[in-house]
Amino acid sequence: MCPAPLLADTPDQILERYAELAKQEDPAFAGFSADHGHELYLQKRVLPIVGAINCDSCHMPDPREEIIAHKT
Ligand code: HEC
Repeated sequence: MCPAPLLADTPDQILERYAELAKQEDPAFAGFSADHGHELYLQKRVLPIVGAINCDSCHMPDPREEIIAHKT
């Protein structure tokens, strides 16, 4: 019997697992990129009724700086 903390994955293990899944979905996946993620965060998408919104519409320009990461 192992106590639970010994079974937990490290951040590197979690990233490795996500990379495996991403490669299965897209063989051209070339690793994680903060710039690409930032682009995605700011990209506008159209929601029915609401209109064009992006992640920033609800989570603020930089969600790391907010204690409550939602716009009211
Ligand atoms: C229409 C408003 C809205 C938009 C747009 C939106 N979110 Fe969210 N997001 C929420 C709400 C509300 C929650 C909390 C849901 C809950 O706890 O059940 C949430 C939760 C999350 C969480 C989980 C946070 C946590 O601490 O558990 C992540 C990560 C997240 N959103 C990322 C994103 C990303 C990335 C985008 C853009 C692709 C995005 N969100 C767009 C409203 C939004």
